Amino acid sequence: MNRREIAQDLDRKDPLSHFKKEFYHPENEIYLDGNSLGKLPLKAKEKMTMVMQEQWGKHLIRSWNEHWLDLPKRLASKLAQLLNAKDHEILVGESTSVNLYKVAQALIQSGHYPKQFLSDALNFPTDNYILEGICRENALAKPIYIHYSTDLKADLNLLKNQISAHPGVVCLSLVSYKSAYYYPMKALNLHAKENNSIIIWDLSHAVGAVAIDLKETQTLVAIGCTYKYLNGGPGSPAFMYIEETLIPDLLSPIQGWFGHAKPFDFSQDYLPAAGIEKFDAGTPTVLSLAAMEAGIDITLAAGIKNIRAKSITLTNALIKEIETQLTPLGYSLESPKEAIERGSHVTISHHESWRICQCLLHGNEKRPKIIPDFRPPHYIRLGIAPLYIGHDDLWLTVERLKEIVLEKEYEHYSQIRPTVT
Ligand SMILES: Cc1ncc(COP(=O)(O)O)c(C=O)c1O
Repeated sequence: MNRREIAQDLDRKDPLSHFKKEFYHPENEIYLDGNSLGKLPLKAKEKMTMVMQEQWGKHLIRSWNEHWLDLPKRLASKLAQLLNAKDHEILVGESTSVNLYKVAQALIQSGHYPKQFLSDALNFPTDNYILEGICRENALAKPIYIHYSTDLKADLNLLKNQISAHPGVVCLSLVSYKSAYYYPMKALNLHAKENNSIIIWDLSHAVGAVAIDLKETQTLVAIGCTYKYLNGGPGSPAFMYIEETLIPDLLSPIQGWFGHAKPFDFSQDYLPAAGIEKFDAGTPTVLSLAAMEAGIDITLAAGIKNIRAKSITLTNALIKEIETQLTPLGYSLESPKEAIERGSHVTISHHESWRICQCLLHGNEKRPKIIPDFRPPHYIRLGIAPLYIGHDDLWLTVERLKEIVLEKEYEHYSQIRPTVT
């Protein structure tokens, strides 16, 4: 068998391969950007039509009681199952940025931890912007940013030393957006605890791709989005997790009526709900909530451990091809080589990265379009979403990356970049 036949044979034997048909696939296209925006589950499309026609169209206001008020709770329960949390420890709604604002502000104001934020250079920019805003609001010193020798991998000794030296509220992305570096969650949670600190984990690039066990890792607070590997749809609602014993000590900085103990009493006095619902603020975004359920259902049906196992198999195979076939052509691997330190995207670089991405996106008469994404200054991220990517997709991607450089195909494209890359 040649290399492509081997890849196709592996796909035939893949126990998760049948999940691919749960999604909509444009023709002649390989989608390697599920780490930015996941695919459309076919059931989400059906569900949206039903919700719009029946619930919104026909039942209108009655649908709140009949269907909509329970929707965020039902989704929270499914996420709790996925993350090994309790149903009442998860709240679904708003964006990751807003959830981070709420929990970070609540932790600072709780008085339980030193009023000092720590973050690192691998964290997603919005997280750091949010922390800085909270510092400004509370007249606190700026967050301490930990810089490593590279922005692709954390130096764990340095990180731990900084937490010991500057205890407080730490914010880290469990899987880093640039390189997919995957932090050892439990070891860091324990270290934080020993040092009078707490870590807020941003799970955005991890949830649905790596097996997260919030109890086993002794995680206290987390936030994350659902539009990447969970295929929840563009801008789909995010979630927060607060460990149950911590909930009574925290107050939401946004006192909206949906966080009230009895919102429909319309009282003039604010009384926060007893549970995590106190972090709710306004009316749930029903259409987005309805759209996101199908993606979570598929993930639960496939099983996160199986998804993670397939992700490791695929990313290991891809890295082997990068090292043997692409490195001699000027590409470099920018993600950790060891699976234990890596989420589900593989980042490579090349001095012509931007124009190579343009070639991938356009395809040619012999090859499909391939959709990666580009992150400055020169990173190409290849998102390996195990629910719909297989070995043959990787074979085609590597062949295409080779051919673009060997034939200098990138010379046909401009260096100018649009806003969203
Ligand atoms: C790690 C991480 N956190 C936060 C965000 C942004 O979240 P949102 O725009 O949903 O607030 C992203 C977006 O890609 C992300 O990757």
